[in-house]
Amino acid sequence: MDSSFAGVYEAAEWYAIAFGYRDVPKECDFLTGLADEFGCGAGSFLELACGPGFHALEMARRGVPSAGLDLEPSMVRLLEGEAARENLTVTALQADMRSFEVETPFHLVTTLLDSCAHLLTNEDMLAHLNRVAAALVPGGIYVLEFSHPADCFGVRKTAGTDWTMKSNGTEVHMQWGKDDDPFDPITEISDVTVTLDVTEEGRETRTLREVVRTRSWTYQTLRALLDQTEPFTPVAWYGALDRTVPFDNAESAWRMVAVLRRTDGRRDCGRT
Ligand SMILES: C[S@@+](CC[C@H](N)C(=O)[O-])C[C@H]1O[C@@H](n2cnc3c(N)ncnc32)[C@H](O)[C@@H]1O
Repeated sequence: MDSSFAGVYEAAEWYAIAFGYRDVPKECDFLTGLADEFGCGAGSFLELACGPGFHALEMARRGVPSAGLDLEPSMVRLLEGEAARENLTVTALQADMRSFEVETPFHLVTTLLDSCAHLLTNEDMLAHLNRVAAALVPGGIYVLEFSHPADCFGVRKTAGTDWTMKSNGTEVHMQWGKDDDPFDPITEISDVTVTLDVTEEGRETRTLREVVRTRSWTYQTLRALLDQTEPFTPVAWYGALDRTVPFDNAESAWRMVAVLRRTDGRRDCGRT
Protein backbone atom coordinates (compact mmCIF):
# COMPACT_ATOMS: atom_id res chain seq x y z
CA MET A 1 0.00 0.00 0.00
CA ASP A 2 1.35 3.41 -0.95
CA SER A 3 1.27 5.95 1.86
CA SER A 4 2.70 8.97 0.02
CA PHE A 5 -0.80 10.32 -0.64
CA ALA A 6 -3.64 10.91 1.80
CA GLY A 7 -6.26 10.28 -0.88
CA VAL A 8 -6.91 9.66 -4.58
CA TYR A 9 -7.45 13.32 -5.41
CA GLU A 10 -4.12 14.25 -3.79
CA ALA A 11 -2.49 11.90 -6.32
CA ALA A 12 -3.54 14.37 -9.02
CA GLU A 13 -1.15 13.20 -11.75
CA TRP A 14 -2.27 9.59 -11.41
CA TYR A 15 -5.89 10.73 -11.38
CA ALA A 16 -5.25 12.67 -14.60
CA ILE A 17 -3.90 9.54 -16.28
CA ALA A 18 -6.83 7.39 -15.08
CA PHE A 19 -9.48 9.89 -16.22
CA GLY A 20 -7.70 10.97 -19.39
CA TYR A 21 -9.90 8.70 -21.57
CA ARG A 22 -12.52 11.32 -22.42
CA ASP A 23 -13.02 13.14 -25.72
CA VAL A 24 -12.60 16.58 -24.14
CA PRO A 25 -12.85 18.65 -27.38
CA LYS A 26 -16.15 16.91 -28.22
CA GLU A 27 -17.45 17.51 -24.69
CA CYS A 28 -16.47 21.19 -24.97
CA ASP A 29 -18.36 21.39 -28.30
CA PHE A 30 -21.39 20.05 -26.44
CA LEU A 31 -21.05 22.65 -23.66
CA THR A 32 -20.51 25.50 -26.11
CA GLY A 33 -23.54 24.39 -28.16
CA LEU A 34 -25.73 24.52 -25.05
CA ALA A 35 -24.45 27.98 -24.14
CA ASP A 36 -25.20 29.17 -27.68
CA GLU A 37 -28.72 27.72 -27.73
CA PHE A 38 -29.93 28.28 -24.17
CA GLY A 39 -27.67 30.98 -22.77
CA CYS A 40 -25.57 33.81 -24.10
CA GLY A 41 -22.68 31.90 -25.60
CA ALA A 42 -19.46 30.67 -24.05
CA GLY A 43 -17.87 34.07 -23.59
CA SER A 44 -16.18 32.89 -20.41
CA PHE A 45 -16.00 29.48 -18.75
CA LEU A 46 -15.72 28.13 -15.21
CA GLU A 47 -15.19 24.42 -14.44
CA LEU A 48 -16.10 23.48 -10.85
CA ALA A 49 -14.61 20.52 -8.95
CA CYS A 50 -12.38 20.56 -12.00
CA GLY A 51 -9.70 18.05 -10.96
CA PRO A 52 -6.92 18.47 -13.56
CA GLY A 53 -9.16 20.97 -15.41
CA PHE A 54 -9.17 19.19 -18.77
CA HIS A 55 -12.13 21.26 -19.98
CA ALA A 56 -10.89 24.61 -18.62
CA LEU A 57 -7.62 24.00 -20.49
CA GLU A 58 -9.43 23.08 -23.71
CA MET A 59 -11.68 26.15 -23.55
CA ALA A 60 -8.60 28.33 -22.96
CA ARG A 61 -6.97 26.73 -26.04
CA ARG A 62 -10.04 28.00 -27.95
CA GLY A 63 -9.40 31.52 -26.69
CA VAL A 64 -12.19 31.52 -24.06
CA PRO A 65 -11.22 33.17 -20.74
CA SER A 66 -11.37 30.17 -18.41
CA ALA A 67 -11.07 29.16 -14.78
CA GLY A 68 -10.97 25.90 -12.85
CA LEU A 69 -11.85 25.49 -9.17
CA ASP A 70 -11.11 22.54 -6.93
CA LEU A 71 -10.88 21.84 -3.21
CA GLU A 72 -7.73 19.74 -3.55
CA PRO A 73 -4.52 21.81 -3.72
CA SER A 74 -2.69 19.12 -5.77
CA MET A 75 -5.34 19.39 -8.50
CA VAL A 76 -5.07 23.18 -8.54
CA ARG A 77 -1.27 22.96 -8.82
CA LEU A 78 -1.56 20.44 -11.66
CA LEU A 79 -3.90 22.77 -13.57
CA GLU A 80 -1.61 25.75 -13.00
CA GLY A 81 1.39 23.75 -14.17
CA GLU A 82 -0.32 22.52 -17.36
CA ALA A 83 -1.62 26.02 -18.18
CA ALA A 84 1.89 27.46 -17.74
CA ARG A 85 3.43 24.67 -19.85
CA GLU A 86 1.05 25.46 -22.72
CA ASN A 87 1.23 29.21 -22.11
CA LEU A 88 -2.54 29.38 -21.56
CA THR A 89 -4.36 31.85 -19.35
CA VAL A 90 -6.46 29.79 -16.94
CA THR A 91 -7.34 31.03 -13.47
CA ALA A 92 -6.88 28.16 -11.00
CA LEU A 93 -8.81 28.56 -7.75
CA GLN A 94 -8.53 26.46 -4.62
CA ALA A 95 -11.96 26.65 -2.97
CA ASP A 96 -15.03 24.72 -1.86
CA MET A 97 -17.84 24.54 -4.42
CA ARG A 98 -20.32 25.14 -1.58
CA SER A 99 -18.91 28.50 -0.55
CA PHE A 100 -16.75 29.96 -3.35
CA GLU A 101 -16.92 33.48 -4.77
CA VAL A 102 -15.58 34.84 -8.04
CA GLU A 103 -14.57 38.38 -8.95
CA THR A 104 -16.29 38.45 -12.34
CA PRO A 105 -19.30 36.27 -13.21
CA PHE A 106 -19.03 33.71 -16.02
CA HIS A 107 -21.23 32.95 -19.04
CA LEU A 108 -20.92 29.17 -18.82
CA VAL A 109 -20.27 27.06 -15.71
CA THR A 110 -20.04 23.28 -15.49
CA THR A 111 -19.47 20.46 -13.01
CA LEU A 112 -18.59 17.22 -14.78
CA LEU A 113 -18.09 13.54 -14.09
CA ASP A 114 -20.55 13.32 -11.21
CA SER A 115 -18.40 15.61 -9.06
CA CYS A 116 -21.61 16.86 -7.42
CA ALA A 117 -21.71 13.44 -5.73
CA HIS A 118 -19.32 15.10 -3.27
CA LEU A 119 -22.19 17.31 -2.14
CA LEU A 120 -23.53 14.93 0.49
CA THR A 121 -26.67 16.68 1.74
CA ASN A 122 -29.57 18.68 0.30
CA GLU A 123 -28.20 21.68 2.20
CA ASP A 124 -24.82 21.23 0.47
CA MET A 125 -26.55 21.16 -2.92
CA LEU A 126 -28.64 24.28 -2.18
CA ALA A 127 -25.58 26.18 -0.91
CA HIS A 128 -23.71 25.10 -4.04
CA LEU A 129 -26.49 26.18 -6.42
CA ASN A 130 -26.70 29.56 -4.72
CA ARG A 131 -22.95 30.10 -5.12
CA VAL A 132 -23.10 29.06 -8.79
CA ALA A 133 -25.99 31.46 -9.44
CA ALA A 134 -23.86 34.28 -8.02
CA ALA A 135 -20.97 33.21 -10.28
CA LEU A 136 -23.09 33.37 -13.46
CA VAL A 137 -24.21 36.36 -15.49
CA PRO A 138 -28.03 36.63 -15.79
CA GLY A 139 -28.97 34.41 -18.72
CA GLY A 140 -25.85 32.28 -18.19
CA ILE A 141 -25.89 28.49 -18.23
CA TYR A 142 -24.92 25.87 -15.65
CA VAL A 143 -24.38 22.30 -16.93
CA LEU A 144 -24.18 19.44 -14.40
CA GLU A 145 -23.22 15.88 -15.30
CA PHE A 146 -24.38 13.15 -12.88
CA SER A 147 -24.47 9.36 -12.93
CA HIS A 148 -27.71 8.04 -14.42
CA PRO A 149 -30.18 7.24 -11.58
CA ALA A 150 -30.64 3.73 -13.05
CA ASP A 151 -27.30 2.97 -11.41
CA CYS A 152 -28.17 3.87 -7.83
CA PHE A 153 -31.56 2.12 -8.00
CA GLY A 154 -29.85 -1.04 -9.27
CA VAL A 155 -31.87 -1.03 -12.52
CA ARG A 156 -28.75 -1.36 -14.67
CA LYS A 157 -25.05 -0.64 -14.48
CA THR A 158 -24.53 2.43 -16.63
CA ALA A 159 -20.78 3.08 -16.37
CA GLY A 160 -17.61 1.02 -16.20
CA THR A 161 -15.94 0.99 -12.78
CA ASP A 162 -12.71 -0.83 -13.59
CA TRP A 163 -10.23 0.26 -16.26
CA THR A 164 -6.55 0.79 -17.09
CA MET A 165 -4.85 3.79 -18.72
CA LYS A 166 -1.20 4.35 -19.64
CA SER A 167 0.69 7.59 -20.23
CA ASN A 168 4.41 8.32 -20.54
CA GLY A 169 5.40 4.93 -19.15
CA THR A 170 3.03 5.06 -16.15
CA GLU A 171 0.19 2.55 -16.06
CA VAL A 172 -2.76 3.30 -13.78
CA HIS A 173 -5.43 0.74 -13.00
CA MET A 174 -8.53 2.29 -11.44
CA GLN A 175 -11.26 0.49 -9.58
CA TRP A 176 -14.03 2.94 -8.65
CA GLY A 177 -16.16 1.08 -6.13
CA LYS A 178 -16.77 -2.55 -5.17
CA ASP A 179 -20.05 -4.46 -5.48
CA ASP A 180 -20.38 -4.74 -1.69
CA ASP A 181 -19.69 -1.06 -0.90
CA PRO A 182 -22.26 0.04 1.67
CA PHE A 183 -25.13 2.28 0.50
CA ASP A 184 -27.36 3.97 3.08
CA PRO A 185 -30.86 4.18 1.56
CA ILE A 186 -31.89 6.89 4.03
CA THR A 187 -29.04 9.35 3.44
CA GLU A 188 -28.46 8.07 -0.14
CA ILE A 189 -24.71 8.09 0.63
CA SER A 190 -22.32 5.33 -0.45
CA ASP A 191 -18.92 4.51 1.01
CA VAL A 192 -17.10 3.89 -2.25
CA THR A 193 -13.85 1.94 -2.14
CA VAL A 194 -11.50 3.48 -4.68
CA THR A 195 -8.32 1.59 -5.56
CA LEU A 196 -5.51 2.88 -7.76
CA ASP A 197 -2.72 0.50 -8.79
CA VAL A 198 0.13 2.47 -10.29
CA THR A 199 3.10 0.99 -12.14
CA GLU A 200 5.83 3.42 -13.17
CA GLU A 201 8.51 2.15 -15.53
CA GLY A 202 11.15 0.18 -13.66
CA ARG A 203 9.28 0.36 -10.32
CA GLU A 204 7.11 -2.00 -8.31
CA THR A 205 3.34 -1.53 -8.52
CA ARG A 206 2.05 0.77 -5.79
CA THR A 207 -1.53 0.66 -4.49
CA LEU A 208 -3.51 3.59 -3.14
CA ARG A 209 -6.86 2.82 -1.53
CA GLU A 210 -9.40 5.23 -0.09
CA VAL A 211 -13.05 5.09 0.92
CA VAL A 212 -14.78 8.09 -0.68
CA ARG A 213 -18.26 9.14 0.49
CA THR A 214 -20.59 10.04 -2.36
CA ARG A 215 -24.26 11.02 -2.62
CA SER A 216 -26.50 9.59 -5.33
CA TRP A 217 -28.47 12.46 -6.86
CA THR A 218 -31.76 11.37 -8.40
CA TYR A 219 -33.89 13.25 -10.92
CA GLN A 220 -36.85 13.75 -8.56
CA THR A 221 -34.68 15.05 -5.71
CA LEU A 222 -32.94 17.46 -8.03
CA ARG A 223 -36.23 18.72 -9.43
CA ALA A 224 -37.52 19.33 -5.89
CA LEU A 225 -34.36 21.23 -4.92
CA LEU A 226 -34.34 23.23 -8.14
CA ASP A 227 -37.90 24.35 -7.38
CA GLN A 228 -36.41 26.00 -4.26
CA THR A 229 -33.57 27.64 -6.18
CA GLU A 230 -35.19 30.68 -7.64
CA PRO A 231 -32.48 31.94 -9.97
CA PHE A 232 -32.34 28.65 -11.90
CA THR A 233 -34.71 27.19 -14.48
CA PRO A 234 -33.95 23.75 -15.95
CA VAL A 235 -34.01 24.21 -19.73
CA ALA A 236 -32.90 20.76 -20.95
CA TRP A 237 -31.90 17.27 -19.78
CA TYR A 238 -29.69 14.82 -21.69
CA GLY A 239 -28.63 11.19 -21.21
CA ALA A 240 -24.98 11.85 -22.13
CA LEU A 241 -22.70 14.76 -22.98
CA ASP A 242 -24.27 14.48 -26.41
CA ARG A 243 -27.29 16.38 -27.68
CA THR A 244 -28.55 13.40 -29.67
CA VAL A 245 -29.02 11.32 -26.48
CA PRO A 246 -32.26 12.10 -24.62
CA PHE A 247 -32.49 11.59 -20.86
CA ASP A 248 -34.57 8.42 -20.64
CA ASN A 249 -34.18 4.74 -19.78
CA ALA A 250 -32.65 3.61 -23.08
CA GLU A 251 -29.22 1.94 -22.99
CA SER A 252 -27.69 4.97 -24.72
CA ALA A 253 -28.64 7.20 -21.77
CA TRP A 254 -25.84 6.49 -19.33
CA ARG A 255 -25.63 9.90 -17.60
CA MET A 256 -28.02 12.51 -16.26
CA VAL A 257 -27.07 15.92 -17.64
CA ALA A 258 -28.98 18.95 -16.39
CA VAL A 259 -28.86 22.30 -18.16
CA LEU A 260 -29.92 25.21 -15.93
CA ARG A 261 -30.31 28.82 -16.93
CA ARG A 262 -29.99 31.71 -14.53
CA THR A 263 -33.31 33.34 -15.26
CA ASP A 264 -33.55 36.16 -12.73
CA GLY A 265 -32.95 39.68 -13.97
CA ARG A 266 -32.79 40.67 -17.59
CA ARG A 267 -31.42 38.09 -20.01
CA ASP A 268 -28.65 40.49 -20.82
CA CYS A 269 -25.73 38.13 -20.40
CA GLY A 270 -23.84 40.58 -18.24
CA ARG A 271 -23.50 43.20 -20.97
CA THR A 272 -24.10 46.76 -19.91
C1 LIG B 1 -14.37 12.68 -9.66
S1 LIG B 1 -13.29 14.07 -9.57
C2 LIG B 1 -13.76 14.88 -11.09
C3 LIG B 1 -12.81 15.93 -11.57
C4 LIG B 1 -13.21 16.63 -12.84
N1 LIG B 1 -14.55 17.19 -12.75
C5 LIG B 1 -13.12 15.76 -14.06
O1 LIG B 1 -14.05 15.82 -14.89
O2 LIG B 1 -12.12 15.04 -14.23
C6 LIG B 1 -14.02 15.06 -8.32
C7 LIG B 1 -13.27 16.33 -7.97
O3 LIG B 1 -14.08 17.07 -7.05
C8 LIG B 1 -13.23 17.74 -6.13
N2 LIG B 1 -14.04 18.12 -4.96
C9 LIG B 1 -14.59 17.31 -4.02
N3 LIG B 1 -15.30 18.03 -3.13
C10 LIG B 1 -15.20 19.32 -3.52
C11 LIG B 1 -15.71 20.56 -3.02
N4 LIG B 1 -16.49 20.58 -1.91
N5 LIG B 1 -15.41 21.70 -3.66
C12 LIG B 1 -14.62 21.69 -4.77
N6 LIG B 1 -14.10 20.55 -5.30
C13 LIG B 1 -14.39 19.39 -4.68
C14 LIG B 1 -12.13 16.72 -5.87
O4 LIG B 1 -10.98 17.31 -5.30
C15 LIG B 1 -11.93 16.14 -7.28
O5 LIG B 1 -10.92 16.82 -7.97
